Amino acid sequence: MTKQLRTAFAAADAANKIALKYWRSNYQVKTKANYRDLVTTADLEINEALCKIIARAFPNHGIISEEAPATGTGQEYVWVIDPIDGTSNFTMGLPTFGVSIALLKNGQPHLGVVDFPALNERYWAEAGKGAFMKRGNARPIRCQVSNTNTLKQSNSSIGFCTSTKSRQRYINIIKKIFPKIKANRVHYSAVFDFCNVARGGMDFYLNYGIHLWDFAACWCIVQEAGGEMVNLKGDSPDLKDADILATNGQVTKQLLKIL
Ligand code: IPD
Repeated sequence: MTKQLRTAFAAADAANKIALKYWRSNYQVKTKANYRDLVTTADLEINEALCKIIARAFPNHGIISEEAPATGTGQEYVWVIDPIDGTSNFTMGLPTFGVSIALLKNGQPHLGVVDFPALNERYWAEAGKGAFMKRGNARPIRCQVSNTNTLKQSNSSIGFCTSTKSRQRYINIIKKIFPKIKANRVHYSAVFDFCNVARGGMDFYLNYGIHLWDFAACWCIVQEAGGEMVNLKGDSPDLKDADILATNGQVTKQLLKIL
């Protein structure tokens, strides 16, 4: 195991313990950009632990986090973290939230680890080395995207963010796509949905209005599982892209035509 992956695993282990200490227990909730945008004691404590572990191991790397000001963004290696993706699920006591840890090299996916504390599952990938997942202490399983090649047979997850504008776009796109596909689920955790595409459980995931920390770790995981992550032009995502589509690589063109 590389030092980078070892560090990401150590950070994920620490985050996992903190998340389970607070989940369905006592913590404080505050709002951020609007009343739907939440941060909890658990987000902040996990953020601190992740930053400490990463900075100790790699003092010259940059760090971008959902919950703290960015540092060293001009470095060759930049870590991108979301201490809890799916914070509102966390506050509802739902198990669909994940800790997301990515490492970008020159702005490209280099490593991704996503831990789901309440589901006891972890997904990870390093560029060129494949994507894996494991449940508890079971042996790791290689992740492989699905083989579905028609929209008619596709299971999707389509998401939206906290802004009313994004929700309006969601309603419009659901009207267009829903009649053409097999099933759609809404989980409100981008990392949960991306990892399900990587695992082959869902054929595509689309979200309007997400941030780099919502997709950076899964960018590596989805690609290494054989899938594609693109913006709505069909290009590889830019770090500032907010509308992201992840697919099994077989339904991308059909979807982009509709979008
Ligand atoms: C949110 C989730 C959600 C996505 C939102 C994100 P957060 O992350 O990933 O699925 O639609 O745009 O903000 O705020 O819970 O970390």
